[in-house]
Amino acid sequence: MPVSPLGREIDRVDGRSKVTGAAQYAADYPVADVAYAYVVTSTIAKGRILAMDTAAAVAAPGVRAVFHPDRNLGFRPPRAGSPALMVENYLPLQDREVRYYGQAVAMVVAETFEQARDAAALITTTYESAPPRISLEAHSPGVQPPLPPNMGPANVTVLAPGVDSIDAALAASDVRVEATFHQPVQHHVAMEPHASVARWNEARTEVTVWTGSQSPMIAAQLLADRLHLPLEAVRVICTYTGGGFGSRVRSWNDSILAVGAAYQLGRPVKVVMTREQVFTMVGHRGQINHTVRLGASRAGVLQAVSHESDAELPAVGGWPMLPATDTTDTLYRTPNLHVRQRFVTLDMPPSWAMRGPNEAPGAFALETLMDEIAVRTGVDPVEVRLRNYAAVSPSTGKTFSSKHLEECYRVGARRFGWSARRAEPRSRTDGEWLIGMGMATAIYPGNRMPVNASVELRDDDTAVVSTATSDIGTGALTVLAIVGADQLGIPMRKVTPRLGDSWLPPGATAAGSAATSSTVPSVVAAAEGAIAELRRLAVSEPASPWHGADLADVTYAEGRLSGAGRSMTFGRLLAVLGRKSLVVDRQTALAPEMIAQYEFHSFGAHFCEVRVNRFTGEPRVTRFTTVVDAGRVVNAQAARSQIVGGVIFGIGQALLEKNPVETGTGRLAASNMADYMVPVNADVPDIDVHLLREPDPHVGALGTRGLGELGAVGSAAAIGNAVYNATGIRRYDLPITLDKLL
Ligand code: MOS
Repeated sequence: MPVSPLGREIDRVDGRSKVTGAAQYAADYPVADVAYAYVVTSTIAKGRILAMDTAAAVAAPGVRAVFHPDRNLGFRPPRAGSPALMVENYLPLQDREVRYYGQAVAMVVAETFEQARDAAALITTTYESAPPRISLEAHSPGVQPPLPPNMGPANVTVLAPGVDSIDAALAASDVRVEATFHQPVQHHVAMEPHASVARWNEARTEVTVWTGSQSPMIAAQLLADRLHLPLEAVRVICTYTGGGFGSRVRSWNDSILAVGAAYQLGRPVKVVMTREQVFTMVGHRGQINHTVRLGASRAGVLQAVSHESDAELPAVGGWPMLPATDTTDTLYRTPNLHVRQRFVTLDMPPSWAMRGPNEAPGAFALETLMDEIAVRTGVDPVEVRLRNYAAVSPSTGKTFSSKHLEECYRVGARRFGWSARRAEPRSRTDGEWLIGMGMATAIYPGNRMPVNASVELRDDDTAVVSTATSDIGTGALTVLAIVGADQLGIPMRKVTPRLGDSWLPPGATAAGSAATSSTVPSVVAAAEGAIAELRRLAVSEPASPWHGADLADVTYAEGRLSGAGRSMTFGRLLAVLGRKSLVVDRQTALAPEMIAQYEFHSFGAHFCEVRVNRFTGEPRVTRFTTVVDAGRVVNAQAARSQIVGGVIFGIGQALLEKNPVETGTGRLAASNMADYMVPVNADVPDIDVHLLREPDPHVGALGTRGLGELGAVGSAAAIGNAVYNATGIRRYDLPITLDKLL
């Protein structure tokens, strides 16, 4: 009997192709007769193009076309009532307006990439420039635009009976802490630069686009919408995608430019953003200023929680959700709660979701001040969190579908050795290093989306599991193989997983930590459906040896049908019936009554040790333990990898990452992976990840909840809290660089 791979340590099925270079990313596809594009970007942040001299570029060797506002790509306005899937609210190269520094203003298409790039350098542009709005402080307070319907309200106030206002509740608390936090601009910095190759059919009625995406479905829908085509006329292929972190949930101008130019020229066109262009043409995590105020009893029990935020929302379009306050209304029990989210319109490049888009900035603030409550009351930080443990959501009153956060704290504290911590800052040293310990909570919504998946049983005893999701490095392809093998009872090597193609059954967006939890129940349903169909054929088809038998007498197990003293593999039966294969497609979604009844969240606890050099202020993360409660684990190796990656995001957020905006010009200072600092191996210790693996009884078949973004939430606060414990210095402005610790 094959041992099920479910929950085990499974190497990813695409590992070899990735490390040997066989994996083809968007720009790698060998498309015959392709022409190469190079995008020219603006050097002002706000204003108009007065004139553009393209004569030299047009005459340059190999150039086939130069597109710009006076020779544009001829896009029609969007269809009425079309979904707002594009982040940016204009079409590129269609008009002379400049909306941000680094916006596409022209594009050269030539026979080679080098010819296009060299010709692009010959274009001169004159602008009429206006002062851009770039300062979050100068343009605050923001406003509250309507939020997307699946988001909570921007404003939540829950007050205990007899309490007039959150301010009154805070004033009545024995212990009060308050701080204003600054989250600077951050970037996803996915390894694969954003790129698209577009090829139309001869009649120019159908187009295939190879582009890295977190959702081939969204990418295809967006283009179909822009091109006034039916969805089936657009095929998006992203078999491999070199990282997302939010930056590929929606498409950026590379795909639209490639499709438009390929249409105009009647040949395939490849658009690859330079690394510098990725920093502006792809949305960043917007700046946020937010203030948290907590009131507690002397025993550390919360009496009032307030979280108010002003976040950047670029005029050109951006992340419209709740980029700070979303966690605060769910994490701790409190009789008085107030969250308020406002948005400040700026002339910045587009912003967009970045790993834990609402939760990572929000949790840094809330969890830093929870540590301050511990300091002020003398109660241990873990104990403070236990004293405020929420059995129900404080904002909605709903119970959690499954919550084992207490166990995360307990197991984490033991694995890490938390009991050795000394509450007094600067009380542990090792030579010139001050040693501190810190902890914080992780929380992330456990959403599920409606998703289709298909299972195909073939006459050679193999199966194919298909769904139009993406594997952005998470191991989604391997999840399909694992669950297919588990449900069919056959070895993984007999299961071929397929994703990354919008023509497959409509699949999950690889976002919101919900791709696995959404996809797994659909694969389970499709496998069950395929087995049921196989049994039905066995008793109903005249060629079947079981023809006329009772359905109940023909059973399926481990790839074989058995009954009435006979047994044969499913492949053999299909062959006997003269069929190559049998395909069943199923959709599943979280039931509305479950959504009405439960809060679905995943949880975790971070513990870390930081050493700060007493002479240079240099902070180093030296130990890290994270324990997570995300329901059943499908692939223990990939799940641990996801949490490790999230914690590394936390190290970047806490200690390294920011991109200042140049005053006056609106230019983002960093535009490469040397100036924009992300953690490298030398910044990252061994990260100890423990998975609790308790299946969620309500989320769906197999009980798996999201965990992708969980590690990125709270990890920065754990580091900041350890920095405080080491040095006695508390910082609210990220990142906590060495100059701030002297
Ligand atoms: Mo993630 S920021 O939901 O792609």
